[in-house]
Amino acid sequence: MPAFTPPPLPSDDKRWKIVNGTMRKNGFARHALIETLHTVQSAFGYLDDDAIRFVAKSLRVPLSQAYGVVTFYHYFSLKPPGKHTMTICTGTACYIKGTDKLVASAEKRLGIPQGQTTKDGNISLMTARCVGACGRAPVVLTDGELQGQMSGEEMLAQLERWAVE
Ligand code: FES
Repeated sequence: MPAFTPPPLPSDDKRWKIVNGTMRKNGFARHALIETLHTVQSAFGYLDDDAIRFVAKSLRVPLSQAYGVVTFYHYFSLKPPGKHTMTICTGTACYIKGTDKLVASAEKRLGIPQGQTTKDGNISLMTARCVGACGRAPVVLTDGELQGQMSGEEMLAQLERWAVE
């Protein structure tokens, strides 16, 4: 049997690498379905049709099964997140460098817990587990752009810029 070649990433958005990492870690096995969908949700804030198709194809599970999981668990959302997304890496290297404080400070500034979007639909606050740039910890993705050595001040300044747009 020819070796399985996973499909190409849907775009060059760095967050797909995180999703791919979860699948790779599990050897692209079917049992990684829920964990992978979780990774998509935590990195992007929701799951759209393209994401669900990509995961189903990569893990060789029927699309209906992937949709079944997404619609069964309340945790998953099919709705897009806010206009902007701040994704804070909470993997070990970043955590050691204090991203838990970044999360707490962003939650305070935005008045929402992580995983949610501000009422005006402007900013979503997400977390991800290791985006693969540990050497640049603490890492934050601003609308999918990787920012290394992020300080609390810089992160709050970015949130302010988005707030006044
Ligand atoms: S733990 Fe944050 S990039 Fe690896």
